Amino acid sequence: MLITVIYIAKDIFLLYNGQKFERNEGRMATIIEGKTLAKKIRENLKIECEELKKQGIKPKLAVIMVGNNPASKVYVKNKSKACNEIGIEYEEHFLEETISQQELNDLIKKLNNEKEVNGILLQSPLPEHLDINQAFKAISYRKDVDGFTPSSVGKLVMGGDTFISCTPYGVMKMFEEYNIELTGKDVVIIGRSNIVGKPLAQCCLANNATVTICHSRTKDLKKHTQRADILIAAIGKAKFVTKDMVKEGAVVVDVGINRNEEGKLVGDVDFDEVEKVASYITPVPGGVGPMTIAMLMNNVIKAAKEQNNENSTF
Ligand code: GUN
Repeated sequence: MLITVIYIAKDIFLLYNGQKFERNEGRMATIIEGKTLAKKIRENLKIECEELKKQGIKPKLAVIMVGNNPASKVYVKNKSKACNEIGIEYEEHFLEETISQQELNDLIKKLNNEKEVNGILLQSPLPEHLDINQAFKAISYRKDVDGFTPSSVGKLVMGGDTFISCTPYGVMKMFEEYNIELTGKDVVIIGRSNIVGKPLAQCCLANNATVTICHSRTKDLKKHTQRADILIAAIGKAKFVTKDMVKEGAVVVDVGINRNEEGKLVGDVDFDEVEKVASYITPVPGGVGPMTIAMLMNNVIKAAKEQNNENSTF
């Protein structure tokens, strides 16, 4: 009887605090609702964008896409939809697969010099004959809303004010929203990409975590993942992270977006199993993905504000 009362009281407490949870064999993981948080961020950005327009500032994003990568087309469409919804002006530059490095760099330079354009986003991947790092290097760091230029990355490492790349920034916002403290925590990131793994490690380090980056050559991966207080998967392999790799009570963040045999979106984490041991977990879809676009929109608004601020030290 007493135990029943305690359980009911606990459920009421959790519901009252707005925490959605699933009960599995006596365990529960709080689902980190990226979709809901992203919606809130976008609504606030819409208000901010309206305010800027009243001051004569019209935030604008220019997107460059080279070739016909189907996944990139979907990403670009989603970015244009988000801009539309918030009131950010948007222009697209679709370039032929065969374009030269020089032509691409010339377009970037032209956009760097256009005062009305506040943010430039070069959609990756590029066709093989083009050097993406050379192209990123051509983007002015003041318009680098993706946070991929050497200047932005360098400032992130050194702790300066900069554009943080959108997926890592989205993950940090999720930690903030759910009061997940990083100080002193063991964070293990699987994946060392320039877009996610490396900048995310810097963000966690800046928040006083002890960070390990694992990758395809890591020896005994499980040894590392099992001691993680916070485990972040950014590998691009469906259901790669299984329950036996996760410490009881760990926070699990899934950055992966993969399609399974039925064409369904799945993450890098075996959600149904890992949820039974995690304390917090992000779903796919509806977790990190929507946060990435929300933080891109945030960066465009920041770019517009900085470029119109005479006292900006950015
Ligand atoms: N390709 C996949 N994700 C991204 C992203 O966030 N930014 C850019 N520019 N290209 C991508």
